[in-house]
Amino acid sequence: MQIETIDTSPYDDQKPGTSGLRKKVTTFQQRNYLENFVQSIFNSLNGIEGTTLVLGGDGRYFNRQAIQTIIKIAAANGFGELIIGQGGLLSTPAVSHIIRKYQAFGGIVLSASHNPGGPTEDFGIKYNVSNGGPAPEKFTDALFENSKTIGEYRLARIDDIDLDHIGRQQIDGLSIDIIDPVADYAELMAQIFDFDLLKQSIGSGYLNLCFDAMHAITGPYAKRILEEILGAPAGSVINATPLEDFGGGHPDPNMAHAKELTQLMFSPQAPTFGAASDGDGDRNMIMGANIFVTPSDSLAIMAANAGLIPAYRKGISGVARSMPTSQAVDRVAKAEGLPCFETPTGWKYFGNLLDDGQITLCGEESFGTGSDHVREKDGLWAVLFWLNLIARRRQSVADIVHEHWQHYGRDIYCRHDYEAVDAAVANGIMEHLRGQLNGLANQTFGDYTVKFADEFSYTDPVDHSVSHNQGIRVGFTDGSRIVFRLSGTGTVGATLRIYLEKYEPDADKHAQDAQQALSALIEIAEQLCEVKKRSGKSGPDVMT
Ligand code: G6P
Ligand code: ZN
Repeated sequence: MQIETIDTSPYDDQKPGTSGLRKKVTTFQQRNYLENFVQSIFNSLNGIEGTTLVLGGDGRYFNRQAIQTIIKIAAANGFGELIIGQGGLLSTPAVSHIIRKYQAFGGIVLSASHNPGGPTEDFGIKYNVSNGGPAPEKFTDALFENSKTIGEYRLARIDDIDLDHIGRQQIDGLSIDIIDPVADYAELMAQIFDFDLLKQSIGSGYLNLCFDAMHAITGPYAKRILEEILGAPAGSVINATPLEDFGGGHPDPNMAHAKELTQLMFSPQAPTFGAASDGDGDRNMIMGANIFVTPSDSLAIMAANAGLIPAYRKGISGVARSMPTSQAVDRVAKAEGLPCFETPTGWKYFGNLLDDGQITLCGEESFGTGSDHVREKDGLWAVLFWLNLIARRRQSVADIVHEHWQHYGRDIYCRHDYEAVDAAVANGIMEHLRGQLNGLANQTFGDYTVKFADEFSYTDPVDHSVSHNQGIRVGFTDGSRIVFRLSGTGTVGATLRIYLEKYEPDADKHAQDAQQALSALIEIAEQLCEVKKRSGKSGPDVMT
């Protein structure tokens, strides 16, 4: 294999965010931009010679082209084997599983997750380590430093690889294996859930469902698992063909973006169960007939019912949630005597706890839930968890949720996003909030009295690494909270997220509309952060 060393000059903006490097496609198309980043990944790793790398993406625009480039750089850097999903496709949780199953050195996921795709939209690249999870901050920091000084990259002079045919080929010492993207993952799901019960419940017509793949990666996975293996009627999976631009949509599973599904679930034709996943298949939205389950509630309900799922029948070791996720799961943990951890936003923070066996289930308000079966959040896993739960309890989604609230109380929850805010304005808002932190405790706003106000820092219980500046928390004496954070995943300006939460123990008040129940907290949030005043926006761009 002929290997060339090519001169390049560094870019200064290759700092990975919450979940890898995400930029416009046009940014990635700049001369050597992708090459620099990929070589910087490899430069930050030790011992790759002869090892295995997993490679795949969510099929968005630029996916195939990027894969061909990465193959050549990986070959030149000494990997012995590349495992690639057919068509260049692999969901994020599937990559995580395949890394673990085949004991690969690591994997590269090409995706900008829930951000739109297409020639003028977003692309992304993320490196996962040998436990199958996103690389820790220490690694991404080293990678960023490398990218700022890089002077050359290595490239193998080989032909483009045929990505569309399953099979293995050898090029000199390098083995390239094009695999079925779904098979390993489907096999894992069959080990976790009661597929016989699901087949029965679906086959008998007791359980009917609609899964919206949003023209993204979960299409082929959901078709195979839900329709072909479990027997859901053809058409139960909608928008099932992955498209380079996701059909012009925004592949983010929430009620604003999964419109077709949402309309159906709130119509008289609603099936028992509805769900959607995002661009790369790690997020999930859970719905039932006439009900939307918040991700925070979904996590709590999973924790409370884990014993009904075969893989968790023996019990779970603990749970974790990201800081802005509601405290609903904490209540379950308390009742069950389980350890419960509060981590910064970003799935990577769950990795050590999962590896160390301290937690089995974890989740985030940002439509992510998962368990120790992989080291990423997992959209279809969450869907199968709920289906298994419904089949076991033989209750509707609404009944399951309402019973949960009756037992534990309801954490009424909502997130308001102000998108594409000028970066200086957004930083000004955070500074303004920081400036108030010292004097907030004991201050009263209407019915609410501040109990504590701080900026969240996290010390990892396993490796003791510390992460600062992870969002501003204002807690009230009745357990309500407001959290302010700047998103780490946007690509245009800054996104301010305001997370609002209020605990309601009284079952007679559980039917309230969240916006209404939270209206006083929404006012207090504006008073504290002045986002409307400072950004000129009249309200949030998205509410989830
Ligand atoms: C990605 C990460 C999640 C994170 C989410 C929101 O999906 O994998 O772990 O919660 O982004 O991040 P953001 O920084 O935009 O709030
Ligand atoms: Zn995603």
